[in-house]
Amino acid sequence: MSALAGKIALITGATRGMGRAIALRFAREGARVAVAARRIAAAEALAGEIGDAALALTLEVTDTAAWDAAVAAVDARWGQLDILVNCAGITEQGTTEETSLESWRRLFAVNLDGPFHGCRAALPLMKRSGQPGSIVNVSSVFAQRPMPGFAGYSTSKAALTSFTKVLALECAAAGLPIRVNSLHPGGTETEMLEQALADTGLPREEAYAHFSAIHPMGRMGKVEEVAEACLWLASDASSFTTGQELNVDGASAIRP
Ligand SMILES: NC(=O)c1ccc[n+]([C@@H]2O[C@H](COP(=O)([O-])OP(=O)(O)OC[C@H]3O[C@@H](n4cnc5c(N)ncnc54)[C@H](OP(=O)(O)O)[C@@H]3O)[C@@H](O)[C@H]2O)c1
Repeated sequence: MSALAGKIALITGATRGMGRAIALRFAREGARVAVAARRIAAAEALAGEIGDAALALTLEVTDTAAWDAAVAAVDARWGQLDILVNCAGITEQGTTEETSLESWRRLFAVNLDGPFHGCRAALPLMKRSGQPGSIVNVSSVFAQRPMPGFAGYSTSKAALTSFTKVLALECAAAGLPIRVNSLHPGGTETEMLEQALADTGLPREEAYAHFSAIHPMGRMGKVEEVAEACLWLASDASSFTTGQELNVDGASAIRP
């Protein structure tokens, strides 16, 4: 049987990069997927690619009312929610001295408050079925190995990792069959990575080599590799795993 047969998933940041790969992987595994992001045309294009098993939603993750509307739309369409993947995220570079308060707050608003709003909005519907549920918060290897020059980003992702563990413990203590884990990609080939490479000011190949070097496996990751790990965390195959950090990072977090 397919790993996600009968499951309903809501995935943020689904219009490109990892979120898109996760949505496609989940759909292939039998899930019905709500694909959410700010650009509704791109979400609709992805939903069109997937077919009847997809629902396109417009969602700004910092907006609590938008979250309520997104969860209500899933309820109206499928009457159930089993999986929430908080994948939407942004990065902005800067040392502590270089980082403006506005940048710091933007990073926290999207990378930390977004998943917080999402969990608060989704939990009542996830609880209603009494069925096993899974929340996956997409963090980063920089949460575990903070990177100088990514002050706000590293810190927001570390806070997201901590929030993930708190919610996992809360769900377990309440006897809920809902697991909550964080996924920690290393450098992964997406538009976000391209932007980070461009922001170094170095020629692309030089910047790519520089970033690759912090991965002991000597390369960046692919979105499909992240999607595969996310699938495991989302599915009942990981039924006794909660409050954990799963790295998809070519050993970057434990590099010497
Ligand atoms: N790529 C890497 O090397 C890397 C490494 C470690 C961790 N990560 C994390 O992995 C996640 C996915 O990264 P990615 O590389 O796939 O990023 P990406 O290519 O930049 O895609 C980001 C996605 O998030 C959506 N988004 C951004 N801001 C949003 C907001 N305020 N509200 C709702 N949606 C928003 C974007 O869609 P719209 O523009 O349509 O809203 C887009 O679909 C992020 O959390 C990132 O921090 C990435």
